[in-house]
Amino acid sequence: MLEDKDRIFTNLYGFGDWRLKGAIARGAWDNTKKLIDKGQEWIINEMKASGLRGRGGAGFPTGLKWSFMPKPDPARPSYLVVNADESEPGTCKDREIMRNDPQLLIEGCFIACFAMQAHACYIYIRGEYILEGQRLEAAIAEAYAAKLIGKNNLHGWPFDIYVHHGAGAYICGEETALLESLEGKKGMPRLKPPFPANMGLYGSPTTVNNVESIAVAPDILRRGAAWFASFGAKNNAGTKLFCISGHVNKPCNVEEAMSIPFRELIDRHCGGVRGGTDNLLAVIPGGSSVPLVPAHQIIDAAMDFDTLRDLKSGLGTAAVIVMDKSTDIVRAIARLSYFYKHESCGQCTPCREGTGWLWRVVSRMAEGRAQKREIDMLLEVTTQIEGHTICALGDAAAWPVQGLIRHFRPEIERRIDQYTANPHSEPVKDFGVAAE
Ligand SMILES: Cc1cc2nc3c(=O)[nH]c(=O)nc-3n(C[C@H](O)[C@H](O)[C@H](O)COP(=O)(O)O)c2cc1C
Ligand code: SF4
Repeated sequence: MLEDKDRIFTNLYGFGDWRLKGAIARGAWDNTKKLIDKGQEWIINEMKASGLRGRGGAGFPTGLKWSFMPKPDPARPSYLVVNADESEPGTCKDREIMRNDPQLLIEGCFIACFAMQAHACYIYIRGEYILEGQRLEAAIAEAYAAKLIGKNNLHGWPFDIYVHHGAGAYICGEETALLESLEGKKGMPRLKPPFPANMGLYGSPTTVNNVESIAVAPDILRRGAAWFASFGAKNNAGTKLFCISGHVNKPCNVEEAMSIPFRELIDRHCGGVRGGTDNLLAVIPGGSSVPLVPAHQIIDAAMDFDTLRDLKSGLGTAAVIVMDKSTDIVRAIARLSYFYKHESCGQCTPCREGTGWLWRVVSRMAEGRAQKREIDMLLEVTTQIEGHTICALGDAAAWPVQGLIRHFRPEIERRIDQYTANPHSEPVKDFGVAAE
């Protein structure tokens, strides 16, 4: 178990003072000038050596991403954009950082901007995060007043920060859709390349990072890359915020060492699975986009990027959705399919048409109103969506359905047999719209 002394988010639950005074007492802004004086190259190398992988879902190495930014050009200023959209179902970690320890994020933005020679940072925050937005604005005002940031700050690197509210679309969490939205356009993903590091916000070099990726940077630099890298398995370094929801006795957010076994995570922090470990059916370990993993595979698995990838799933945002045996697993995936259908921006045919198709077929299967040959057809359609779209929302729609078929085909077949033995003509239940 992670010891208290190794926690970065020491006010995760908001028991302490979220204001600047409280944050400084907990160690924020402690001699930030010393870090800046070590230079941008030192910062980037230290971030690389720490092994930090992006906390927004894809797990791309953060230090490496920062190093992709081109040299400063007066005609094209560089930007840092912080992704605080946090709309992935099950994910609720960034909101706690912004609500309870916003100075960690603000200091991280300042240091990251210096490392990438940017003077401006935009935080794009989910539209529904009203309180978090207010706290963040208040914390930014305090940091300006204390001259920690601003044109003439104590650290000697001119730096401004702006908060921009989204309007509640999941797709605006995708980094290029986010940039479009920030520019005042419809939040529709851009084709890549060019990548944001070359052509990002207003056509200028831009790095987009998740809130948690940025908020951990000051601690990594203060305590050293080796300290951060000492947690977790090789290639899966660091401490990590896990958001655990669903059928556990005490759902919670918790900072733990990466690679903690699933069983330990749930037993130590969530009071175990509801009804005991034997009652576990399956887990979606990284937010709704990643395929579910059945109980026997997840129970002793290390919660990290590589282990979960080997289980044909992913760590994603570390939003761990636990499902016990009372779960109607086919219906649960049908509901997720509805979400992706609803959130598709509609630019790409496979996603626009395919997400609705998946939802309709899985909804029928939840009631057994299908043919067994349709299971393979459904799988085939997911492979035609996956990898064939502008952004990864198409993959995110395909993967939960693939996970369902991979691990619960007999359950789908059982329902088909049951319905075939006793067919009826009532309309198919609508698992999405009814919940809206
Ligand atoms: C449909 C979709 C939604 C996304 N939503 C978020 C989000 O809410 N927050 C986030 O940080 N990343 C989100 N991402 C990932 C971002 O595109 C991007 O990879 C991430 O912000 C990079 O930050 P990181 O390198 O620090 O992880 C989303 C991606 C997709 C395809
Ligand atoms: S994959 Fe879906 S959400 Fe992404 S750009 Fe294409 S249509 Fe839009």
